[in-house]
Amino acid sequence: MARLSSYKISWLFLYFFTLVAVSSAQLSSSFYAKSCPKALSTIRSAVNAAVNQEKRMAASLLRLHFHDCFVQGCDGSVLLDDNSTFTGEKTAGPNLNSLRGFEVIDNIKSQVESVCAKTVSCADILAVAARDSVVALGGRSWTVLLGRRDSLTASLSTANSDLPAPTSDLSTLISAFSKKKPKHH
Ligand SMILES: *[C@@H]1O[C@H](CO)[C@@H](O)[C@H](O)[C@H]1NC(C)=O
Repeated sequence: MARLSSYKISWLFLYFFTLVAVSSAQLSSSFYAKSCPKALSTIRSAVNAAVNQEKRMAASLLRLHFHDCFVQGCDGSVLLDDNSTFTGEKTAGPNLNSLRGFEVIDNIKSQVESVCAKTVSCADILAVAARDSVVALGGRSWTVLLGRRDSLTASLSTANSDLPAPTSDLSTLISAFSKKKPKHH
């Protein structure tokens, strides 16, 4: 099994999120310019604060966005909690006891709600927080297109089948990411 450097993996992420960006014609980087002009700066400050407190959180927030996007597209489905009538993605093998940063996203969401209520989707917050996390650690930036809607559904089975394992080699990762190419939002 080929071992991947974090450098190669970060290029893979950049490639993936660039594809997600260019394939989403109906999304726009200025989606909240009028409805919530402070959204992006609010998210960035909160991400910077969280990453200053714990550097590893940057990687966790990037992973949260990636695990969101791999299941039903980037729709916030990864955030939905299980209850008596609903099973979300949190207990999927690739997520259980390893996904982190939910409380950071909750905190960002409540800050964003206080600057403009019921305007910015959790899916967009995840996407922007992932970018801001990479930038917070000195990585390169990218433009995040916005306007995703949050899902009311989730898929435990897709989370289990489609998310690559930490042991996946490069060709498995490339094929897992390629399968997601045409899907966005
Ligand atoms: C269970 O969770 C789903 C998805 O978030 C939600 O739509 C539903 O209202 C919840 N049901 C209960 C009883 O809390």
